[in-house]
Amino acid sequence: MKHALPRELLPDTAAVGREGRLSVGGVDLLDLADEYGTPLFVYDEAHLRARCREAVDAFGDGVAYGSKAFLCTAMARLVHEEGMRVDVATGGELHVARAAGVPPERIVLHGNNKSLDELQRAHELGVRVVVDSFDELARLERLHQEYGRPTRVMVRVTPGVEAHTHEYVMTGQVDSKFGLGLASGDAARAVEHAQLHPAFDLVGVHAHIGSQIFQLRSFEKAIDILAGFVAPLDLEELCLGGGLGVPYVEGESAPSITEWADVLHTACKAAGITAQVTVEPGRAIAAAAGLTLYRVGTIKDIPDVRTYVSVDGGMSDNPRPVLYGSGYETFLPRATLAERPRTVTVVGKHCESGDVVVRDARVPVDLAVGDILCTPVTGAYGHSMASNYNKVPRPPVVFVANGQARVVVRRETLDDLLRLDT
Ligand code: LLP
Repeated sequence: MKHALPRELLPDTAAVGREGRLSVGGVDLLDLADEYGTPLFVYDEAHLRARCREAVDAFGDGVAYGSKAFLCTAMARLVHEEGMRVDVATGGELHVARAAGVPPERIVLHGNNKSLDELQRAHELGVRVVVDSFDELARLERLHQEYGRPTRVMVRVTPGVEAHTHEYVMTGQVDSKFGLGLASGDAARAVEHAQLHPAFDLVGVHAHIGSQIFQLRSFEKAIDILAGFVAPLDLEELCLGGGLGVPYVEGESAPSITEWADVLHTACKAAGITAQVTVEPGRAIAAAAGLTLYRVGTIKDIPDVRTYVSVDGGMSDNPRPVLYGSGYETFLPRATLAERPRTVTVVGKHCESGDVVVRDARVPVDLAVGDILCTPVTGAYGHSMASNYNKVPRPPVVFVANGQARVVVRRETLDDLLRLDT
């Protein structure tokens, strides 16, 4: 059928039922929109669990969930139950993971500018720290001096690889704020220091080359470059970060977590790396599990120019189109598999012309005001990057499974918008 929605962009348990209506986890999406309002994030719990299991099967114990992709206590609990560690990038993410009951030894703290407070918290709890700078090594030494306990650390290395992805999410190149350079010798100096100084218990080396990477060749390149440095160190673990891409729109395809693991393991073996290979995927776990439901509020046709379809959310619940020019598909859950011959521009309700949700959105001809419109693959870096711009309350998050829905993050209220004002 012409421009029907590609099935593989929907969560695992998505099913098209009566009159083309879409359900996820056995729950009808239009019923969810009625009950919880819009905008609404819906996550397929079975899909999340299946991706976590795939990651643990493929990499073994040690694989972590990159929680910046999507985090709340229910999500932290879910990934922990499924055997993943939790990668946190700030004291805030650490706080949420702890509030969810994730044990400190299952948490890894990242960040290119960890404060003394954040490091102290990690040190106190016994959370592993991925060291990103010499300043941070010095801060950890202060903590050691004061409390006399070493910190389990990994050293983040910048291999000098340009992954094929958007410039804003590339992190492995020489010109990066992250990590310690391999070429400059900083990485070697930091590792040597961590090996010798009693403040550190060095577990391994870490490298993250970027995000939304489709070409596994980029990871192979990083391994080739890292091998000469990592193999002789004979450390316990080599963490190759996150970064596995996911398809967002028709025509895109990405390797599975299992295929990613195969390529990484083969490349590491060939390069003589004996350390345990771990990763910390975020997007590959959460993105396709989630979708967003909006309600269409106005339709404005500018003859011979374009048709603007305004929905009740926008850049505050999904800033990715504005930040990275990211594309999404759109469909109507009342007619999931309908042909989508019409092209419109779906925009949000914010006071900016750049507030675009989908620039060239394919929709059925009978799209009308009041319709529930869905953008799939919004489970990663949507809710987690949401803001209150224009004082729009952030949407709730609902997990669905086995015919049941549960609210895991409630909708912000207007009073929530005042709670920090003094
Ligand atoms: N590990 C580290 C050290 C990271 O910096 C990241 C993501 C991950 C793991 C997880 O990466 P993933 O598997 O999700 O690609 N906001 C951007 C993505 C930023 C990624 C930041 N770091 C986006 O919406 O595309």
